[in-house]
Amino acid sequence: MSKRGFDSGPMGGVGGEMGQTRKQRIDLADLRPGVGGNGGIAPVGGINPHTNRPYSSKYHDILAKRRNLPVYEFLDDLLAKVKKNQVVVVEGETGSGKTTQIPQFLVDAGYTRDGYCVACTQPRRVAAMSIAKRVSEEMDVTMGEEVGYTIRFEDCSGPKTVLKFLTDGMLLREAMFDPMLKKYKVIVLDEAHERTLATDVLMGLLKDVLQRRPDMKMVVMSATLDAEKFQKYFGDAPLLRVPGRMFKVEVFYTPEPERDYVQAAIRTALQIHLCEEPGDILVFLTGEEEIEDACRKIRDESANYTSTHGELAVYPLYSSLPPTQQQKIFSEAPGPQAPGAPPGRKVVVSTNIAETSLTIDGIVYVVDPGFSKQKIYNPRVRVESLLVSPISRASAQQRSGRAGRTRPGKCFRLYTEKSFQKDLQEQTYPEILRSQMSNVVLTLLKLGVEDLVHFDFMDPPAPETLARALEELNYLGAISDEGLITQAAKMVLSAPDFGCSNEILTIVSMLSVPQVFMRPKEAAKRADEAKAQFAHVDGDHLTLLNAYHAYKQHGGSKDWCWDNFINVRSMGSAENVRTQLERMLTRMEVPLLSPDFNAPDYYTRIKKALTAGGYMQVAHLQKTGQYLTVKDHQIVSIHPSSVLDMKPPWVLYADFVLTSKNYIRTVTAVGETKNELEACAKRLYQL
Ligand code: CDP
Ligand code: MG
Repeated sequence: MSKRGFDSGPMGGVGGEMGQTRKQRIDLADLRPGVGGNGGIAPVGGINPHTNRPYSSKYHDILAKRRNLPVYEFLDDLLAKVKKNQVVVVEGETGSGKTTQIPQFLVDAGYTRDGYCVACTQPRRVAAMSIAKRVSEEMDVTMGEEVGYTIRFEDCSGPKTVLKFLTDGMLLREAMFDPMLKKYKVIVLDEAHERTLATDVLMGLLKDVLQRRPDMKMVVMSATLDAEKFQKYFGDAPLLRVPGRMFKVEVFYTPEPERDYVQAAIRTALQIHLCEEPGDILVFLTGEEEIEDACRKIRDESANYTSTHGELAVYPLYSSLPPTQQQKIFSEAPGPQAPGAPPGRKVVVSTNIAETSLTIDGIVYVVDPGFSKQKIYNPRVRVESLLVSPISRASAQQRSGRAGRTRPGKCFRLYTEKSFQKDLQEQTYPEILRSQMSNVVLTLLKLGVEDLVHFDFMDPPAPETLARALEELNYLGAISDEGLITQAAKMVLSAPDFGCSNEILTIVSMLSVPQVFMRPKEAAKRADEAKAQFAHVDGDHLTLLNAYHAYKQHGGSKDWCWDNFINVRSMGSAENVRTQLERMLTRMEVPLLSPDFNAPDYYTRIKKALTAGGYMQVAHLQKTGQYLTVKDHQIVSIHPSSVLDMKPPWVLYADFVLTSKNYIRTVTAVGETKNELEACAKRLYQL
């Protein structure tokens, strides 16, 4: 032990004094190193069919490694099963090659012929990006071309893309605009055992889509032993079981509970570095702040031992970390400082993402404090929050398994064995049972699912919970009496995507009150001039926003309203509505964002958010100079009260007014680009 000493460490002495700790051996699987592959699917030395270029030497290097992955032996079996069945369930130990290989096999087997795509979902953004990168290297193509990824706010795919990794949430979003998911031939739902809300909803939706699209295939992949449940849910789908190649992992528990798990984790990592054989370390912590703090402390402390015990390279891993930083976890551990000096090692301090989604080769030691951040719903106060909570026994098993990938390893659990047996629950509950139902209901409504009670959930929420959510949403004006989502709710909910929920809240509130701009006959000209101060060239929604801003700038002054022909009572109501809506959004954890007012795209973002939510009420300019409403094909004109003085090709409107003539009132020009207009039209067509 070093003179600085870690003798008070949680393990009572990792390394030399191991005998004093309670330990238990866990045989994760038979030791079966180095089982060879069964030949290749891609020709050696040949031409890459995706790029028509010769394969690079890197391709062949990786191919040799790929052939050693357990899943390789099951390639024929998998393809035969997929050919014969619409749904196939694959269960395989983490690291056996499911995620990186199976989607590729499907592409190589021809499922992307005729312009189709294979999609593979991931619950986490980091995994989607990092796996897309790895697979594009494996297939020897440029990322973003043949192989790509899509995560929220970032689409790295293109017209040539045949294989796309995307978060389950993104596929759900695509389903909102393309309910039959027409561009995909095969959907691979990965990490299904995680049972995220998005994956659960997708499973219900896809069950229906598969019935309507007999040509479509689905592969459900999971890491744990719950395969039977998935098989049953998908009408007795066949199972492909891929055995892992695991080495023994010795599991150690602390004799006493730890008071501060972060400190304990730091101490343990350092002790491993000082006392254990070479091999890399993986430490599980719960979030960015904790991880960065731990990394700093480990770095500082280990620097004292570089000359005697080798260099310790420390890498954090969490979802908000920039991709180039994330990629560093795959770097080689540092070598010896000088010939004959001790070799270095790396330690990765990660959130749950390293539990099953990402495999880091070379990990021999795992430090598991037993916690992760989880979504918890408190039905009493109806609040959903992300809390640091104990993991399940299934998670703990997964975590320890990460130590036995390349040779026998050790897992240090920073809790007592009794706690593992008694306190940890067997499995984590599916997210849907831990979520606020209002959000789930709104998601389903956005997907066009109206019969919520009969939606085929794998674990259905209680009907009373659903009913209560519907009632609440109706009360808040987010859904109509018929149970349909309102236009205002759609706008507000899509606003965070464009970073302007504050502005949309204001507009929606202003739309909910009676006429804001007064125009007494005797002072029409002065009233028009007053209104012109707020006018925005693109139309009335933005004009309402400007008026509200001006009102607030003048402290809501009655005199100011009077001077500017603004209805003071309406403004008061709008403020009131806004406060209520804001409260509701905070409760639903919808982020309240504003774009930079001086940014050139300030108004563009707002218009995009309006279009995203309001696509039901769009009209298209006709040759006659009138407009045709897209939803119910009415010929209309723009109401004379509108500030719009030209006739844009597409407009969004708030009201349909029937007088002697059909008018649309409160009108804004939308669709900046041709693409946007097409997307808009496509959505309408599908509704
Ligand atoms: O999905 P599953 O857990 O079955 O395994 P995978 O993610 O397909 O990983 C298979 C193997 O690919 C890993 O064991 C790593 O050896 C390798 N891999 C890698 O070297 N670099 C990556 N970025 C991803 C995977
Ligand atoms: Mg995987």
